[in-house]
Amino acid sequence: MAVTATGSNMKSYEEAVDTFSWSDVEAQFSWARTGKVNMAYEAIDRHVADGKGDKIALHFSNNERDESYTFAEMSKQSNKFANVLRSLGIAKGDRVFIFMPRTPELYFSLLGALKIGAVVGPLFEAFMESAVRDRLKDSEAAAIVTTPALMSRIPRSELPDLKHIIVFGEGVAEGEGLVDYGRAMAEASDEADITWLDREDGLILHYTSGSTGKPKGVFHVQNAMLQHLYTGQIVLDLKEDDVYWCTADPGWVTGTSYGIFAPWLNGATNVVRGGRFSPQDWYATIAKYKVTVWYSAPTAFRMFMGAGAEVAKSFDLSCLRHILSVGEPLNPEVVRWGHKVYGQRIHDTWWMTETGGHMICNYPAMEVKPGSMGRPIPGVQAGIIDDQGNELPAFRMGNLALRTPWPSMMRKIWNNPAKYEEYFRIPGWYVSGDSAYMDDEGYFWFQGRVDDVINTAGERVGPFEVESKLVEHPAVAEAGVIGKPDPLRGEIIKAFISLREGYEPSDELKTDIARFVKEGLSAHAAPREIEFKDKLPKTRSGKIMRRVLKAWELNLPAGDLSTIED
Ligand code: PRX
Repeated sequence: MAVTATGSNMKSYEEAVDTFSWSDVEAQFSWARTGKVNMAYEAIDRHVADGKGDKIALHFSNNERDESYTFAEMSKQSNKFANVLRSLGIAKGDRVFIFMPRTPELYFSLLGALKIGAVVGPLFEAFMESAVRDRLKDSEAAAIVTTPALMSRIPRSELPDLKHIIVFGEGVAEGEGLVDYGRAMAEASDEADITWLDREDGLILHYTSGSTGKPKGVFHVQNAMLQHLYTGQIVLDLKEDDVYWCTADPGWVTGTSYGIFAPWLNGATNVVRGGRFSPQDWYATIAKYKVTVWYSAPTAFRMFMGAGAEVAKSFDLSCLRHILSVGEPLNPEVVRWGHKVYGQRIHDTWWMTETGGHMICNYPAMEVKPGSMGRPIPGVQAGIIDDQGNELPAFRMGNLALRTPWPSMMRKIWNNPAKYEEYFRIPGWYVSGDSAYMDDEGYFWFQGRVDDVINTAGERVGPFEVESKLVEHPAVAEAGVIGKPDPLRGEIIKAFISLREGYEPSDELKTDIARFVKEGLSAHAAPREIEFKDKLPKTRSGKIMRRVLKAWELNLPAGDLSTIED
């Protein structure tokens, strides 16, 4: 690692911006010499080759298991899984999905798939059948790794490309495309050849939501590792002896870019805790492993604040030296509370599935302004632009945009070039969909989304996907979905619904409709509030006007209604 072992990895922000070059970052990888690349090699096997095979790579625990694995063991287990996939005929470029709760096997599978050059598609374990179907179908996935409990949510008869289901758990009856993970791993060799790739070859496909249409497959390439390595050094501030814990699930981009790639590229010891959130459980996890660098989300920090300083004081959290947050606006009072209770300022970071890695952040090397997302990382330029692409002066709110390109920029939207182009409609810029302003010291301040995308507890939900599920319910004629401001979760999902003939509004019906979305799509996408309306506001072309629904909800003027139906 080309970083100093003491103090912050970045001397001063200004100096870093002046002297920065991505080729210096590239020089830290083995592929600077060989020209060939593989994320799994750089993250795991390279440390073994460098004599660090005995270092702990992964501390895993949930309520049933408590295990640790060295880099050498991670290397062997992922080699085995690479061999399992090869024996099934899976090859470079094939999409291999991973649909399971966090266990060590999730990480072995993901790394093993990368070793053979497959493109990994992580799926959040809460996804139900229609969410799973849409993503596997769109990506034409060839294989999926899952558990007996989740298997019934994979509608095989509708997925002709899906040849193999590899099941980790008890009592797997093999045959007809079903493979027992345990049996296959036991028989596989723990030595495997790495499939060497070009830096523009595929790495990962993360499905995420926009305001229109089904979820889109954001495609990232191997080259993203430049961003992951570098931001692991300057933003996460990782050093040789750190024990790092990112609380995000690998079903979301934070759980891969910063739950897998950045820490392991930097050779850090990585903590993974399975199971549900509870303040006591999470504090106990920090104390147990002596976590030094902790990356979580505003909703969690607000829950810790709600639980009170006393709970925090009953654990020894003195090991923590750096805390970060991502996914939604971080309230200034949470930063102040964190400072008081943890003795550390929580460092906000801003980025998106599409950016693949950190873009605008607070660094240990600079002063945190509570409420600001920070400043662009060296090597990235951000700006506030109007809809024509003119850059706006300080303190003017506009579109938060980034100068193209950067190493971890998404390279396509799977099967949807038109969607991809929308982000780059203003020449030279990537337009994020967020609005923000910049102050006179170059700090960026988040203002909101410019589209209808909902952010509930840091999870990004597309209203269209929820509305599509709602109208499948027999009682629902039409549905419009918005994000309603909420002090704990940032936003909650609220659905406005008009009923079909013969159905009457009732609380039981609300419960039944919410359950229908929860069981068909996913728990985090289910509306927490439902309001029945005789009629929903629509444009003359029949599109439900979510903007008007939002104005109703917030008691605001509805704006231009010239396109409304009547
Ligand atoms: O609106 C912004 C919000 O989350 C969106 C990206 O969501 P997703 O692709 O799921 O990625 C989340 C984790 C990288 C952004 O468009 N967001 C992300 N970080 C912040 C944020 N909003 C405010 N402050 C942040 N730090």
